[in-house]
Amino acid sequence: MTTARPSGRQFPADFLWGSATASYQVEGAVDEDGRGQSIWDTFSATPGKVLNGDSGAVAADHYHRMVDDVALMKRIGLHAYRFSLAWPRIQPTGSGAFNPKGLDFYSRLVDQLGDAGIDPVVTLYHWDLPQALEDAGGWPARDTAYRFADYAAKAAEVLGDRVKIWTTLNEPWCSAYLGYAAGVHAPGRENHADSLAAVHHLNLAHGLAGSAVRDVVGPDAQISITLNLHVTRAASDSPADLDAKRRIDGLANGVFLGPLLDGAYPADVIADTASVTDWSFVQPGDLDLISIPLDVLGVNYYATGLVRKSDAVRVPGDGTPGPDGHKSSALSAWPATDDIEWLPLPGPHTAMGWNIEPEGLTELLVDLHTTYPGLPLVVTENGAAFHDEVSPDGRVHDLDRVAYLHDHIDAVGEAIDHGADVRGYFVWSLMDNFEWAYGYDRRFGIVRVDYDTLERTPKDSAHWYAELIRAHAIPTIESAASLG
Ligand code: FCB
Repeated sequence: MTTARPSGRQFPADFLWGSATASYQVEGAVDEDGRGQSIWDTFSATPGKVLNGDSGAVAADHYHRMVDDVALMKRIGLHAYRFSLAWPRIQPTGSGAFNPKGLDFYSRLVDQLGDAGIDPVVTLYHWDLPQALEDAGGWPARDTAYRFADYAAKAAEVLGDRVKIWTTLNEPWCSAYLGYAAGVHAPGRENHADSLAAVHHLNLAHGLAGSAVRDVVGPDAQISITLNLHVTRAASDSPADLDAKRRIDGLANGVFLGPLLDGAYPADVIADTASVTDWSFVQPGDLDLISIPLDVLGVNYYATGLVRKSDAVRVPGDGTPGPDGHKSSALSAWPATDDIEWLPLPGPHTAMGWNIEPEGLTELLVDLHTTYPGLPLVVTENGAAFHDEVSPDGRVHDLDRVAYLHDHIDAVGEAIDHGADVRGYFVWSLMDNFEWAYGYDRRFGIVRVDYDTLERTPKDSAHWYAELIRAHAIPTIESAASLG
């Protein structure tokens, strides 16, 4: 495995090294201890929605193996563990009664982490909306934001004394556009106007929940949100291609960064989408509720995108999704973007078909620092799916993943050199898990999960990451096979 980047870059001793998972992707136990149904249970059970008909019913069985999993995290040396709470486990129908057994599971997890010296970084919403709330309108309905704040307050009441960072939402872009415009994630609806209403109500949910957590925990609560900001390039400097990039930037990034950090939706996005919606779902006072102070911004990064203005008008379902599959296609074929084409990017690519471009991560972090100086950043997800194989020696020599991590972590260091205030980095993912519409077919873990026995095996990438954490410096890629 070769890389253009040197090894050995040093990181500060207090830099937070972690790894991440999400409830529906790892827990399983979907019918146990009073958990209610989520939109992902419903979506997975709908034929044709998830590859091979997979679902999160068992997943990595983390619900039953939590104690061993925390012990594994300790062996890797993680400083922090980012996980999400399953709202329907804590409040089965998304309103009304709370479920003590669900709260107890997370309380035990947080205690277990505390005993292991690992900081809990909690995400309140990583896509598993209680089905009852979807039945009542889902994220396009304003009331969902208020229900979310009630649930957040309860979670803070029970866990607030022990949680280091509260992340309200993970990637609201995916919830809104994949769930309500492209229909490739739960709940599988396809309506552009609804997806923009969902964007706004997710932003509102962040603000209301962040304030609710602060009210319960006190001013020291660390409030965050995690965004999958797009790094999109224009294919040329022509005004038409630059305008295509501008429109994607607005829909992908501006509709979140604007209200969260600038206190307004970008005027150009409102103009671009005038034929889709009049934005009347934004009520007086909403932007004040949304733009609460952020203690840290979570950044998820995997790949970049390349766009140009096309002569052909694209229509939904025309069979030509962008190079990263369903993710970019969610923003194609809108009235505002139907003349934008996503171009294939040069390799190498991961098993998701995503291009590998660590420079994009440096660029994103430095741009954020320039636009929002003083805002602390944490890379809350970064990692890669590859087709892993178990070697005769029983190990998984995933040097392609090690190389991906090596180069992206170096890219984070480079952003710090350019002044970005990056406080931590979380590998996606701690272990192989249910990769949404791709089911179990894509493995992102640094720990292998055998889906027949549910046995965990740290891959070479886990040994390599452990060494990085121990040494505060990036080990060589080649060293991975002999570590551990
Ligand atoms: C992100 C999600 C995470 C995982 C990675 C690969 O969009 O937040 O759950 O699926 O992609």
